[in-house]
Amino acid sequence: MAPGANPSHFGMRNPPTLMYASFSPARHIDPVRGTLVGGLMHDQRADSLEDQALRPFFNPAEMANTSPAALVARLRKASYARQFDQLFGRGALSDPGSAMQRVASAVAAYQRSTEFSPFSSKFDAVMDGRATFDASEARGYEAFRDRNRGNCVECHSLGENRGRRALFTDFSSHNLGLPANRESPFYRMPASINPDGAGFIDLGVARDPRHAGMEGRFRVPTLRNVAVTSPYMHNGVFASLGEAVRFYTTGCVPGNPDRWAAPEVAAGRECRKVGRLKLTARDTADLVNFMYTLTDGWYDPATGLPGPMQVEPMPPIIGGAGRIASSY
Ligand code: HEC
Repeated sequence: MAPGANPSHFGMRNPPTLMYASFSPARHIDPVRGTLVGGLMHDQRADSLEDQALRPFFNPAEMANTSPAALVARLRKASYARQFDQLFGRGALSDPGSAMQRVASAVAAYQRSTEFSPFSSKFDAVMDGRATFDASEARGYEAFRDRNRGNCVECHSLGENRGRRALFTDFSSHNLGLPANRESPFYRMPASINPDGAGFIDLGVARDPRHAGMEGRFRVPTLRNVAVTSPYMHNGVFASLGEAVRFYTTGCVPGNPDRWAAPEVAAGRECRKVGRLKLTARDTADLVNFMYTLTDGWYDPATGLPGPMQVEPMPPIIGGAGRIASSY
């Protein structure tokens, strides 16, 4: 969870990564599965990078600008203001309405650059034939794809990126039955930010009334760079990857042996797919180790030379099963 421009203000969700966001298709209903696919943000409410880029500027819990005119007035004083004129013509920032469209297209263009999708992880190096998984990573990759064990690929899919590299998401949305994160500072925000107070329930995709029936669904995130983006899930309820995998293993097991807190939205929870996977402790460690191979900067795909993340690898952390995230 991250504070806004006002450091005592927190938004309702754990900010998702923008890495690889440019690959999300335009939002649409999949005619076969009936699920909402594509779009941006945890609840898929933004249609495009341009649409998404404009939202945090005006969210009172995020950048808290009061109007396009106020934002553009600040932009005009920025060191790079002249570059807007160079790119879009003189007076590019004079009219707040068109200036905002230019800001959106500039931010979106930046997000479409390779800086946001370098494909430079150990996983990519292995796929390129320039590295090999260690034994645990290789077993994790197997469990990730094995329909009878992890079956993570059902949602964090590898091959649907039109022949390009795996993105670890099919951009659909699901209700995993996650507990609310009662430690989130959002519950304590003033009514101007959180009108529902402690009674706030995040309906996810169904916050948009056009998607009634999709309560509790959130978009499948990419797992690229997941090792360095704790906490996890839309509400940051898990502190570690080990905890997330443990939830996939026991979250729906009758009798609730790990004593998970109740789902925030129980209706429509997809226990058939996740929540009672047959994963051993070793599978969990292997899956976590595999996910650590998804961190960019491990090598330079152009030259094959080692990158900074390979020189100083991040040690895998396997969290205590059943523990709910407690600190940010
Ligand atoms: C039925 C679809 C589905 C399957 C199968 C699935 N996931 Fe997920 N996964 C999701 C969705 C949806 C989210 C986001 C949920 C949310 O934020 O509310 C998610 C989130 C995650 C996250 C948190 C990522 C982040 O940035 O917060 C991790 C880690 C993860 N999944 C790992 C796995 C692993 C490992 C497996 C296999 C054991 C797996 N998932 C199987 C749908 C799925």
